[in-house]
Amino acid sequence: MLEVARIVGGQPLRGTIQAAGAKNAALPLLAATLLTRERVTLHNVPDLSDVRFMAEILRHQGATVTETSPGTWVLQATEITHRTPYELVRKMRASVCLLGALVGRLHRAEMAIPGGCVIGPRPIDLHLHGLESLGCKINMEGGVVHVDASAIHGQVVPMGGPMGSTVLGTANIMMAAVTTPGTTIIQEAAAEPEVVDLGHLLTKMGAKLQGLGTKTITIEGVATLHGAEHSIIPDRIEVGTYLVAGAITNGDVTVRGANPQHLEAFLEKLRESGVNVTTGPDFIRAHGHPTRAVHLTTTPYPGFPTDLQAQFMALQLCVPAESSLTEKIYPHRFMHVSELQRMGADIRMDGATAYVHGGRTLTGAPVMASDLRASAALILAALAAQGETWVQRLYHLDRGYEKFEERLQSLGANITRLPAAAMPKDLQSD
Ligand code: EPZ
Repeated sequence: MLEVARIVGGQPLRGTIQAAGAKNAALPLLAATLLTRERVTLHNVPDLSDVRFMAEILRHQGATVTETSPGTWVLQATEITHRTPYELVRKMRASVCLLGALVGRLHRAEMAIPGGCVIGPRPIDLHLHGLESLGCKINMEGGVVHVDASAIHGQVVPMGGPMGSTVLGTANIMMAAVTTPGTTIIQEAAAEPEVVDLGHLLTKMGAKLQGLGTKTITIEGVATLHGAEHSIIPDRIEVGTYLVAGAITNGDVTVRGANPQHLEAFLEKLRESGVNVTTGPDFIRAHGHPTRAVHLTTTPYPGFPTDLQAQFMALQLCVPAESSLTEKIYPHRFMHVSELQRMGADIRMDGATAYVHGGRTLTGAPVMASDLRASAALILAALAAQGETWVQRLYHLDRGYEKFEERLQSLGANITRLPAAAMPKDLQSD
């Protein structure tokens, strides 16, 4: 059933919420459970549609997946198939991270190539070149990639691309290499906390990795991996989103269970914008409106995360000066701009840079979510806008935010989730 969010802006958000487990760690970690026949227990698994879908794919591969209590999943892949069908892969591009797990466990894989999505093309050429560097034979036919890893062996694997490192590409090569004879050296590796978390799980499973969190990861292959238990890191993108919710409404929001070290570039820009930011070992607090323009460029970790670009754009609409946001990861990741403009935002695009002239009063309007982070940005803008906003196609939001409207309500937001039919007819788009 299609749902919409109705938001009435103007309430400063105040209070404390608990961070959920990271979606972008949970997905590769779930894939990694295929690397052993033994049982793997994961804690702090976020309750998200993308995560539930990954469980469906793992069951299709032959694994048992049981949620033994809220957020705790027990998985066991005793016997699995190397084939992953198109009808599953096409629904979630991130399922590409199964490739490395299937190669690491079975030394072969057959997977439909995931399509692109609204934030731009989502190629996997670096994943495939990385597997070829390890001696895999790759065949593509009919939109399916066939990987023959019978001759796989440790190698130097350059993983850098035109936009820098690749997060899931690095995850795939790590999972393929942990059971590959010899030494694998991944160059230009992604250093994101989610990749480090995957490395921590693999280490608990008996893998031998060094250099996690740096550009060079060295892996000594082992014959087999065993079961393990692991708690997933907090979701830094979700944390950043809630901190913006506090700042954009001139409120005071604390997120517990957050790791400030995972958000240093973002927090630096938040402080630069004039928001008061306080941090502790496991919490981050943001209070007060932004007052200064900010110029930011998204780059691979530890740079400013592309997944917080849309949210920060919404925030800078409060500042009566010209801010700029440049995308170096996904140059087309600006679907939110036209929708923000419907709310009165003055934003000018020039290539992969958005120039934001803030300070104008935003007014509520019916808007359309287009992708996960854009939908969050529209809701954030609606919280600061005058009047009523209807955000349509909420399923985008549910892919990456657990109980988003409930958690915002707990901070004082006037937001309600409704069936799409509840939206006034004259506001409904065709
Ligand atoms: C991960 O996607 C995240 N998803 C994305 O989060 C995030 O935006 C992205 O990393 C960048 O940080 C998950 O972890 C599930 P990439 P991933 O490979 O790994 C190009 C969200 O909102 N590239 O690091 O697919 C690519 O086109 C999602 O939670 C190639 O050219 O991203 C992009 O420009 C959206 N060839 C850049 O590299 C390749 O083979 C970075 O992509 C692979 C990537």
